[in-house]
Amino acid sequence: MRQILYISTSTAPGDKADLAGILEQSRHNNAIDGVTGLLWSDGRHFMQVIEGPKVSISDTFARIQVDTRHEQLEVLHDRPIEDREFGGWSMAHRRANDPADAYDAQMHRLLSRASPSISKPFFDLMNNGRAGG
Ligand SMILES: Cc1cc2nc3c(=O)[nH]c(=O)nc-3n(C[C@H](O)[C@H](O)[C@H](O)COP(=O)(O)O)c2cc1C
Repeated sequence: MRQILYISTSTAPGDKADLAGILEQSRHNNAIDGVTGLLWSDGRHFMQVIEGPKVSISDTFARIQVDTRHEQLEVLHDRPIEDREFGGWSMAHRRANDPADAYDAQMHRLLSRASPSISKPFFDLMNNGRAGG
């Protein structure tokens, strides 16, 4: 299997990223393609890890790379894996009035089985607004 972690910037102004549309397409496609992982967004940036069979990841990532809803896509991590680190596919988005504790707890739960090379960039981005390379 293959696992990719990347960061990108939303092309929609402000916090108007099309999260609902992305979520719907991803849930549908990833269930069929055997893709698991986590998509995080604050409405301006995306950070996503996808993992699964090599062919599924190549095809999915090729579509993601040409998607005009984001730009400045930078791959932080691309490696072969033996075992999945995510049980399913999920999306985390902190809305303006979501309590910080509940959001932190959710992210810790979602990242509980991920290796530090995956979880650290997520926590860096959540805490500092940027990912450590
Ligand atoms: C930040 C971001 C993350 C995305 N993640 C996924 C994903 O995990 N799986 C997926 O199939 N499409 C994902 N997409 C959407 C794809 O770029 C593409 O629009 C979609 O796969 C096309 O699916 P369709 O042909 O079924 O409409 C993502 C798009 C963006 C902008």
